[in-house]
Amino acid sequence: MRRLIPLLLLALAACQSNDPRAQAKALIASRCAACHVVPGVRTAVGVVGPSLADIANRQVIAGKFANNRDNLIRWIMHPQAMMPGSAMPEMGISQPQATQIADYLRTLDKP
Ligand code: HEC
Repeated sequence: MRRLIPLLLLALAACQSNDPRAQAKALIASRCAACHVVPGVRTAVGVVGPSLADIANRQVIAGKFANNRDNLIRWIMHPQAMMPGSAMPEMGISQPQATQIADYLRTLDKP
């Protein structure tokens, strides 16, 4: 038991991490990985949607919207409002979560 305590503390620290990149990766792993390839997130190998590798270099997202921070945040929160019928579902992502994810995605500029 005594040996377990430091391990538990470590796990707790990881959960409460204030590192926005780590938080973004955890969100991506749980909410996006099934459908997208995302560099830096080991489990994100889905091929339902396009790969998000080098997303920062693209001019346009979802074939239609200027690729800027606001549109990316909005897309992550409300793909169905922006493009009714898109195969990307509404997932109830909050604005702070979407912002964290978008800021991570905007660092991906290499294929
Ligand atoms: C059920 C599958 C699914 C899930 C889950 C999903 N997406 Fe998507 N995503 C798609 C599909 C399909 C498209 C293509 C939409 C289109 O162009 O009509 C897409 C498009 C995108 C695009 C635009 C990509 C481009 O090349 O233009 C981004 C950015 C994106 N998704 C981010 C995310 C993020 C971030 C998450 C997690 C919060 C997520 N997606 C979850 C299926 C999914």
